[in-house]
Amino acid sequence: MAEVIYVASARGGSGATTCAVYLALALAALGERTLVLDGDGECASGLEICGLQGLNVYTLADAEEGACRVRQAVLQHPASPNAYVLPTLGLKNPDYCMTAVNECAKLFDVVLCDGVAAGACRRAIVVSAPYPSSVASAKLRGARLKDGGAENVGLIVNNVNGGLVYGGAVLSPQEFASVVRLPLLGVIPEDLTLPLNKIRPSTERAFQMTAEALLGRSTKVYGTVKPYLGVTGYFKRKLRAHV
Ligand SMILES: Nc1ncnc2c1ncn2[C@@H]1O[C@H](COP(=O)(O)OP(=O)(O)OP(=O)(O)O)[C@@H](O)[C@H]1O
Ligand SMILES: [Mg+2]
Repeated sequence: MAEVIYVASARGGSGATTCAVYLALALAALGERTLVLDGDGECASGLEICGLQGLNVYTLADAEEGACRVRQAVLQHPASPNAYVLPTLGLKNPDYCMTAVNECAKLFDVVLCDGVAAGACRRAIVVSAPYPSSVASAKLRGARLKDGGAENVGLIVNNVNGGLVYGGAVLSPQEFASVVRLPLLGVIPEDLTLPLNKIRPSTERAFQMTAEALLGRSTKVYGTVKPYLGVTGYFKRKLRAHV
């Protein structure tokens, strides 16, 4: 049976869907057959991040209407034979996601529920940006998930700009995790190629480290200030100061 994990955005646009998809790819690379239940019923952003928008025949909405079986709406990620996405585009009753999770749990090692089927998940991840404006929402989101029955709630600090952390302009991911009182599961750097559906090797490494932490194989998180240390870091900082 799959481990079913709820992925929550601390506040809108924190990167929950992006993290769910790339985490699925990282888990897949570690041999875990992983499904992302794309909870975006209006735009199918998970499908879009997978590069599969418009290529699906069915969505969960078709299964809801009895036009297909749940598993027929599951699509394989083009970059991995172990990563899959299930779009919910057009779904009328969000509770049907619970049926989908129950069916899919038999077929996968990990199911990441992006913003849906919270009731099916005993484990959850809050995805938050590291800014002070996200502190209250990340804290509240974590507390609500625990109140709702999630026993294990971890934090991914996403979109971290190492230069700003180095300069002390934003909290470090460790400080942020301590302020919102959630265990730090992963740190994902700011990567401006992500909205273009590309990914830097360093960001890929950050997702790999997060996947290892999720599976309990490591406690290390990606270090975002590392590129700003040493001689190259000195020039990088000087360059930033001029830009
Ligand atoms: N680490 C990152 N670096 C740079 N941009 C990022 C990063 N993570 C996500 N983004 C960008 O932020 C935007 C919002 O991401 P995403 O859709 O994953 O957020 P979300 O939390 O799922 O949003 P929503 O609350 O609407 O569901 C997207 O344009 C995405 O490409
Ligand atoms: Mg989303």
